[in-house]
Amino acid sequence: MELDDCLVKRHSVRKFSEKEIPPETLGLLIRAAITAPTAGNLQEWRFVAVTDSAQKDKIANACEEQLWMAQAGALIVVCTDDRDLEKFYGPSAKKYAVQDAAAAAENMLLKATDLGLGSCWVAACDEEQLKTVLALPGFVTPYVVVAVGYTEEKAVTKPTFKVEDLIHINQFGKKAVEYPEMGELIKRLVEKGKKAVRKIRHA
Ligand SMILES: Cc1cc2nc3c(=O)[nH]c(=O)nc-3n(C[C@H](O)[C@H](O)[C@H](O)COP(=O)(O)O)c2cc1C
Repeated sequence: MELDDCLVKRHSVRKFSEKEIPPETLGLLIRAAITAPTAGNLQEWRFVAVTDSAQKDKIANACEEQLWMAQAGALIVVCTDDRDLEKFYGPSAKKYAVQDAAAAAENMLLKATDLGLGSCWVAACDEEQLKTVLALPGFVTPYVVVAVGYTEEKAVTKPTFKVEDLIHINQFGKKAVEYPEMGELIKRLVEKGKKAVRKIRHA
């Protein structure tokens, strides 16, 4: 699937069919995750792929009782091993770990879309409870649970902000309209983007 298609079609899915996800598909998701950038190229992500029903139930409970999660074919928990991050980055380690995990999780969501799977990013959880369920050592921190599975759900058109309202030029507060050339360029890009989105949604 083209990247633009994946970007538009990806949406949060919280209803899954019972069809199991083959291990090789889980492998493709993790492979996509580990092409993400990482601070200092340390590649300190760790993934726990959970397919066991009892474990999925426990994770759903640890995630503030989001019980729909237990229906997903797999729950892939994106974690970081914090030892080297802390050694190299000291007080910045946490900030980098969060961003490393987030980049990996987003790659996984896009790959899931590419493979025709539904997915949802879940971060609301009791971290300690999740660590216990997964038997994580103290130096491994869980950040995102990616729920993934087969689904019948179709993407719905969701309201999004306008690019021109979100972008600031050179400094915060300087809007594109203050730069006539830039304003015109952004207008054209936005129009082109909207057309592409409409085309993909109606395909
Ligand atoms: C940091 C973060 C935390 C999230 N946590 C949850 C969560 O705990 N449970 C959930 O159902 N969705 C969660 N989501 C998914 C968002 O609700 C969803 O991405 C948002 O509503 C936009 O919808 P979309 O994914 O369909 O574009 C989370 C997303 C992000 C980025």
